[in-house]
Amino acid sequence: MSNLAILGGEVVRKVPFHTSAVIDNDEWEMVKEVMERKEFSRFMGSPSADIQRYLEMSSVDAESLLGQYYTFLGGRMVRRFEAAFARKFGVKYAVSVNSATSGLSAALGAIRAGPGDEVITTCMSFNATATSILVFNSIPVFVDIDRKNFCMDPVEVERAITPRTRAILVVHLLGNTADMDAIMDIAKRRGLSVIEDCSQSPGTRYRGRLVGNIGDIGVFSFQETKNMQTGEGGMAITNDPVLAKRMRLIRNHGESICDDAWDEASLENIIGMNYRMNELTAALGVAQIGKLDENNAVRSENARFLSSELGQIRELKVPMYEEGTVPHLYPLIYDEAIAGVERAKILAALRAEGIPVGSGYLRLMYENPLFLKKVGYGRNHCPWSCHLYGQERYYRRGDCPVGEELLYKTFIWFYHIHRPNTIEDMRDVVRAFKKVFANLSLLRESSINTTIGYKW
Ligand SMILES: Cc1ncc(COP(=O)(O)O)c(C=O)c1O
Repeated sequence: MSNLAILGGEVVRKVPFHTSAVIDNDEWEMVKEVMERKEFSRFMGSPSADIQRYLEMSSVDAESLLGQYYTFLGGRMVRRFEAAFARKFGVKYAVSVNSATSGLSAALGAIRAGPGDEVITTCMSFNATATSILVFNSIPVFVDIDRKNFCMDPVEVERAITPRTRAILVVHLLGNTADMDAIMDIAKRRGLSVIEDCSQSPGTRYRGRLVGNIGDIGVFSFQETKNMQTGEGGMAITNDPVLAKRMRLIRNHGESICDDAWDEASLENIIGMNYRMNELTAALGVAQIGKLDENNAVRSENARFLSSELGQIRELKVPMYEEGTVPHLYPLIYDEAIAGVERAKILAALRAEGIPVGSGYLRLMYENPLFLKKVGYGRNHCPWSCHLYGQERYYRRGDCPVGEELLYKTFIWFYHIHRPNTIEDMRDVVRAFKKVFANLSLLRESSINTTIGYKW
């Protein structure tokens, strides 16, 4: 008789892991403040005499700006959150938005990526990284990742550069840092802008520097599975007043405040988006930024504990975190050749033990039909067919072999390393992994249902 749950044995983890947002007293207090004030947005979309001054005002200065009135820069809580974020990340400008998806496209708009331009990005990320490039009609170019950090490989970036390359959109995936020294060096030599997608890495440091603060613009997500949670929401940070101004315009129907004196270059990409954050979201953000370090410390402690324990399993390679890395979730590399058991059986066995594990993203970004068939805008294969691009770009399975191997053969992701899950919860993860890996021969011999799902 086996003791594996998938073969009828006792389940290791009998209660679900904590999955919902952590709400403390400070979130309630901040939200109450907005409710009592009854100001839910306060973004003004029309010009004022001082608009140019406002557009380039630092986030800290803007915090106290005409507190009680509508402003082009948003309501009181939005500006308070932006100022707190700017202080925390040591930048002049923090531009809040309603998602990182919006923030990434505002950032690409601000660097003036447009039709005919190529933007190099990683093959492995959430789809928004790639689709944000399409918003202003640029062409995504996907490069393979480095096995050591699952982020874009600088050698591949250099290889992908063409005369049409405009920017590099780097993702710090799962809280790991991309090789920013090499990427910034390439960007400098080739005259390219760098946007950092820090959706999964707020608080992570690269050689002592907070990510988001290294390239031209850094973008963060506060969607519910992220390290900072406001339901939905995002932030774009920069030290460049022109980029900040352009992002503020893109966020808030910028075209409506431009007048005849604006030259063509400054009108470029300033079209009517509404990427604005509301006051209730910002209230949650003010509370969340105040305890980012505390919450990140829980992720770090839990992930490092898992590595110290699961590192003993021969068939697994565990993440060895550098100092400064804040893990977003916990990725393992499974070696099927040593284990002699297909990964799907391992995942099913772990899920049956009550451990929510996955194999990473469903597919790499370029494997989406959107890219394989190049159907985005309308019927005519825009922006790939745009005469300003004037060349062919194909996306094919097999383009990024490292990324494909990780997703389809070796990744095992465990999600719930966040607060309020504790080391005690992690002990169940360890127990379940050890149990499953001690019983590989049973899994090898049995035919089991590998489609077993898990409760989120
Ligand atoms: C790497 C990355 N980029 C962008 C996004 C998009 O974030 P949002 O949901 O805030 O638009 C996500 C969210 O899943 C992400 O993980």
